[in-house]
Amino acid sequence: MNAKLKRIVAVWAIPSIVGVVLAVTGKTYLPESIASQERRQESVVPPVYFDSVAVTFPSGSSTFPPGDGADIANANCVMCHSTGMVLRQPPLTMTEWRTEIEKMRGSFGAPITADQVDALARYLSTIDGRKSDAVPSGVSNEAS
Ligand code: HEC
Repeated sequence: MNAKLKRIVAVWAIPSIVGVVLAVTGKTYLPESIASQERRQESVVPPVYFDSVAVTFPSGSSTFPPGDGADIANANCVMCHSTGMVLRQPPLTMTEWRTEIEKMRGSFGAPITADQVDALARYLSTIDGRKSDAVPSGVSNEAS
């Protein structure tokens, strides 16, 4: 081998080997081209059609109905869930409401202070009596 040929081999040997390795393994290890992905997916995925639908959510009030203690509820109970979460419960006694409020304080971290619990429980037990016509909570939580 003359010197010039040796130089050519020295320069091209490694790129050639890399090229051969890539050509053989590339299909497995290199990312698939987008065109190829599309071709593959067209053969397996059935066509998807989109259609518009109309969804109407029930309206609700963002504040509690007026009453003694409503301000406590408005200040402490609507930062995590709607008033409806509270108002659409089965009727509870004051003691049961107290337990519920304590659950909100203890388990979920409602910021209501201990000395407000009784007043709020009284308020909720007053407004939350389900009537025979099954209007949720006995008060209308719907926007009028
Ligand atoms: C820090 C967030 C947070 C605050 C503030 C909060 N709640 Fe809740 N409340 C929750 C979560 C979370 C649930 C759902 C619990 C579940 O799915 O078990 C819930 C559920 C409820 C329920 C449904 C019954 C139940 O026990 O799951 C009532 C009633 C209720 N809350 C009342 C209140 C009242 C009254 C207040 C105000 C004193 C209040 N919440 C404040 C987080 C909160």
